[in-house]
Amino acid sequence: MAIGVFDSGIGGLTVFRTIAKEFPKLDIYYFGDTARVPYGIRSKDTIIKYTTECIDYLVKHYNLEAIVIACNSASSYAIDSLKIKFNLPVLGVIDPGVRAALTTTKTNNILVIGTKATVNSNAYPNKINQISPLTKIYQQACPLFVPIVEEGLFNHKVAETMVKEYLSPYIDKIDTVILGCTHYPLLKETISKLYPDLNLVDSSIAILDDLRNLQITFNESGKRLIHITDKTQSFETLKNILAGNTPFKIVSM
Ligand code: SIN
Repeated sequence: MAIGVFDSGIGGLTVFRTIAKEFPKLDIYYFGDTARVPYGIRSKDTIIKYTTECIDYLVKHYNLEAIVIACNSASSYAIDSLKIKFNLPVLGVIDPGVRAALTTTKTNNILVIGTKATVNSNAYPNKINQISPLTKIYQQACPLFVPIVEEGLFNHKVAETMVKEYLSPYIDKIDTVILGCTHYPLLKETISKLYPDLNLVDSSIAILDDLRNLQITFNESGKRLIHITDKTQSFETLKNILAGNTPFKIVSM
């Protein structure tokens, strides 16, 4: 058996890498919709349509036991309809991210950063409020972070400028930041350099517990296939940085 990992593009390779490292015998089929990324600027209906098409491909081609939606924009809007359409466990990044943030914060003041779609969906605040109604949540859309990462500028001064621009209004109010976009783990170093006291929550790590709880069968060969809908320059430049030293084969579609 195997799992599918979906992202709007290449940022989800950080999730792919984390899962691959933790479960070396698991077959993992990654699908990155590089031809249509970013999803975070699109409407709810379009995000659901695109995500469903991509998962449909994975489900038709592989014998999947579960699907991980690494994309926060898709997790925010598409999870419920995916669970109905595909008769499989579908894990998103919102729930694990929320759990990790609530365990981490000492002051009960959390900032969620994400794409416009993720922030507008209120998926993170709604979930946090269900579990912990007294937690104060701030949200900030950071639309320039995705292009900065895609251009490989995550350690450049342009990244520092934009981190300050987006985060500085909240720094005195919060102790924990949810990195609510697959690309943002690449900005961890820059954020921590500027704001060393902030706790940064990376849902790619938090999602491992959800996978363990599914008790899927880890007796396969550890096959890793990465499907992309366009062989973009960003993919070529960043694939190895994002996927770490996980060996993989690429399927261009
Ligand atoms: C995007 O597609 O806009 C970024 C990925 C994400 O939302 O996590």
